[in-house]
Amino acid sequence: MKILILNGPNLNTLGKREPGVYGTQTLDDLERLLVKKYPADNFEFLQSNDEGVLISRLNALLEAPADGVVFNPGAFTHYSYALRDAISMLDIPVVEVHLSNIHARESFRKTSVIAAVCAGQISGFGMHSYILGVEALKLHTNSKR
Ligand code: DQA
Repeated sequence: MKILILNGPNLNTLGKREPGVYGTQTLDDLERLLVKKYPADNFEFLQSNDEGVLISRLNALLEAPADGVVFNPGAFTHYSYALRDAISMLDIPVVEVHLSNIHARESFRKTSVIAAVCAGQISGFGMHSYILGVEALKLHTNSKR
């Protein structure tokens, strides 16, 4: 499968950022973990602190689709209607993932404005949230075949 692993703002600082919440592993560690676990899949990794870059990458999937997207939009999760629209127009599944359990934290984090246009949400399993996200994509795409 061709899978886009998309990460939003501040996720470039993983490993240094609030390790008690987000763990001590880095984004590079995550990429290595996924490539090692799924050697047959074709991953593209993109992290950006810029909402426009994330939107443009999602828009480009209209022309050159992947099989699915695993997306951690960081804080954009909670207020970016523009990202919601960019997901909503796609015909491929997008799985929303979070390292932390967004429902067990500050009240503003309990709202995801993108959840309703995603195939589903995985939240609270650290780096394993991304593995579960890939598994969810595989199940989701198989069940539609
Ligand atoms: C996060 C949760 C968000 O609330 C936060 O703004 C992040 C990371 C997570 O992975 O737990 O940047 O998406």
